Amino acid sequence: MSRSCKAALLGIVLFGWAAPALADGFANVGRPATPAEIKTWDIDVGPDFAGLPKGSGTVSRGMEIWEEKCASCHGTFGESNSVFNPLVGGTTAEDIKTGHVAALKRTDFPARTTFMKVATVSTLYDYIRRAMPWNAPKSLSDDDVYAVLAYLLNLAEIVPDDFTLTDATIRDVQQRMPNRDGMTTAHALWPGPDLPGMLAKPDTANAACMTGCKPKAELASQLPDHARGAHGNIAEQNRLIGPVRGQRTGPDTAAAELPSPALALAEQSGCLSCHAVDTRVVGPSYSEIAARYRGKNSADALVSKVKAGGEGAWGAVPMPPQDDLSIDDAKTLVAWILSGAPQK
Ligand code: HEC
Ligand code: HEC
Repeated sequence: MSRSCKAALLGIVLFGWAAPALADGFANVGRPATPAEIKTWDIDVGPDFAGLPKGSGTVSRGMEIWEEKCASCHGTFGESNSVFNPLVGGTTAEDIKTGHVAALKRTDFPARTTFMKVATVSTLYDYIRRAMPWNAPKSLSDDDVYAVLAYLLNLAEIVPDDFTLTDATIRDVQQRMPNRDGMTTAHALWPGPDLPGMLAKPDTANAACMTGCKPKAELASQLPDHARGAHGNIAEQNRLIGPVRGQRTGPDTAAAELPSPALALAEQSGCLSCHAVDTRVVGPSYSEIAARYRGKNSADALVSKVKAGGEGAWGAVPMPPQDDLSIDDAKTLVAWILSGAPQK
């Protein structure tokens, strides 16, 4: 690697702003996309309707497209097929007058539908044209997008049954979007000196903690029981790494295969980073602990040791105190270990 090449790489690593150095170092690699190339990809429709193609579609034509290409996932009336979020619902004639969706302020309202949230009708046009149907994005003609959007607007009672949505009438529709005035940038996620009194800070506050931490939030799901198995067990499919797991939505694997709850507790409590059931890791294996103390009435002493930590019983490596472990959990774990730490 040439010296200047290395210098350019270092430039990237050390100084994100050293782009000119990169261009010099890799003079023949890549080139800026031309306006014509960008144009072939750019299908953006802006809130001011810039980029909106000409075209039209009726509510009744939209209903045909909807039933053929959308209803299987989003439900006949946009109410969802129980798996995906509902698109329509939760808005009222009063919201259409005020431009604010009242139900958004209700904590007892079960869902946030698309029409409750979206402020600009152009976003719906853009999104459907670019991304839907999910299994065949960009397969709709511009007129089809007008038609299917007209149908959705009709379901949301924003336009009448005989409405034709066009690149001209869509501008009037914007004036009837239920949440058209519901968008705000006056929140802490939009920092900037021009927002008086606003600090650049996230919208939730959390204190770093090592002990006595708040319990983890439970994931909630709105899926009704009958829809839970539809995609298998999401908990097993995504985010295996990191703090957030998918919610258990699937049928549990046969009961006999389930790991013992105590094993799961040992995992959650962090014990398994140092202990395994049958082999030594950092600490002794649970089966050798069981063998040593079997029949010796040592449960209480072990509970204290697990809570307080200690060393010397098995070697020089200490076991750190388990401050966050409740006494009840410590008792459960010790009883389980002494019973031979069964894994099922
Ligand atoms: C195979 C299932 C499927 C089909 C068919 C489908 N969609 Fe979707 N749709 C989805 C999923 C999944 C999302 C959410 C995608 C995401 O968040 O990335 C979605 C999102 C949307 C949204 C935005 C919802 C929001 O609030 O963000 C709209 C509008 C929409 N679809 C309209 C349509 C229309 C119109 C059709 C038919 C032309 C259609 N969809 C067909 C699965 C589907
Ligand atoms: C950071 C590593 C580590 C973690 C985490 C850990 N242990 Fe230990 N554990 C050890 C070591 C090392 C020993 C051996 C200590 C000794 O020699 O006295 C030990 C010993 C034990 C003993 C036997 C104590 C004795 O006096 O014979 C039990 C029971 C035990 N651990 C249970 C647990 C449980 C339950 C958890 C989870 C709540 C846990 N450990 C977490 C490292 C760990």
